Amino acid sequence: MTAALVLKDISKSYGEVPVLKGVNVEAAPGDFIVLLGPSGCGKSTLLHAIAGLHSINAGEIVIDGRNVNDVPTRERDIAMVFQSYALYPNMTVAENIGFPLKMRGIATIERRKLVEKVAQGLQIEALLERTPRQLSGGQRQRVAIGRALVREPKIFLFDEPLSNLDATLRVEMRTEIKTLHRRIGKTIVYVTHDQIEAMTLATKIVVLNKGVIQQIGAPAEVYGRPANLFVARFIGTPAITLIDGRISGQQFIADGDGLTLPVPALQDGRRINLGLRPEFLHHNPEGKTACRAVVEIVEPTGPEDIVLLKVSGQRATAKWPTGLAKAGEERMIGIDAKGALFFDPENGGRIG
Ligand SMILES: Nc1ncnc2c1ncn2[C@@H]1O[C@H](COP(=O)(O)OP(=O)(O)OP(=O)(O)O)[C@@H](O)[C@H]1O
Ligand SMILES: [Mg+2]
Repeated sequence: MTAALVLKDISKSYGEVPVLKGVNVEAAPGDFIVLLGPSGCGKSTLLHAIAGLHSINAGEIVIDGRNVNDVPTRERDIAMVFQSYALYPNMTVAENIGFPLKMRGIATIERRKLVEKVAQGLQIEALLERTPRQLSGGQRQRVAIGRALVREPKIFLFDEPLSNLDATLRVEMRTEIKTLHRRIGKTIVYVTHDQIEAMTLATKIVVLNKGVIQQIGAPAEVYGRPANLFVARFIGTPAITLIDGRISGQQFIADGDGLTLPVPALQDGRRINLGLRPEFLHHNPEGKTACRAVVEIVEPTGPEDIVLLKVSGQRATAKWPTGLAKAGEERMIGIDAKGALFFDPENGGRIG
């Protein structure tokens, strides 16, 4: 099967400053690729390169088997939804959605039919005669998506389309975008710096930092088996616990003592960061590696409490059923060794 999109060794500099440093990504048809990374890491630059809005210094962009390096934006068969939505303020919703069709010379009656079909899918049929000014943020966002959908492109590009919305609407629209993807099955490349958005939407997450890909993987992979400390810290809420320590006699021994865990064969004396997702620090030591912990702060979230602990004098975060932890108490907890991740503190890479 031909890949929907291949990015081969893409490099891009603005003047002397390198922004993308040899980026390789492959998307299968129907993939929902999320480009995730902190502000300034090069996400929008990469998306704009795919769209042909920016030139690249080196590499190849292949859409549906065809090298498009020298193909102008309008002939790349892509549609883009920007953060700002970029709707035409003086046009109605129907005119906004139908605009790409008008540019292609599609007749008024046919255009109207296609616009209505798309509007129906997005549940904005009732808004077709309004102008963008008369819409809420979420409705505007839907119109922008509608304008992208109506063209039936090979690939959709989204650049932080939810970042202008309030928290509730963000979650709602996130679900709608996921539903839409399931329904139309098109390839999507979606940019966000919000790791929860990435986790909930992606079939494949591409984690970028400073123009370099850190890891590409399904949400469960980047969460459960992060390639390095950057990914481990960037993905997951509450954040991963990292405990400094060393190896001695097939054991990880936390600095400050109080926690010892069996480890894969590693060189004695070697420095290690132990990584633990919150679900691997149990409130009950039974059947786990027991260790002493101090409960510093309890943050209720409803069904669970986020519990900030000190283990071996180092900060740790757990997620427990509501009401089990009391701030200030000292107690035994259980570390689930099967969730233990080990990192090299020198280069950040995951070991084993
Ligand atoms: N036209 C430009 N000229 C010079 N530098 C630029 C230009 N556009 C972006 N940059 C720089 O390139 C880097 C990557 O920018 P980019 O917009 O791709 O980041 P981003 O990952 O999309 O960030 P954000 O999450 O804040 O949108 C940044 O350091 C930015 O300052
Ligand atoms: Mg950006």
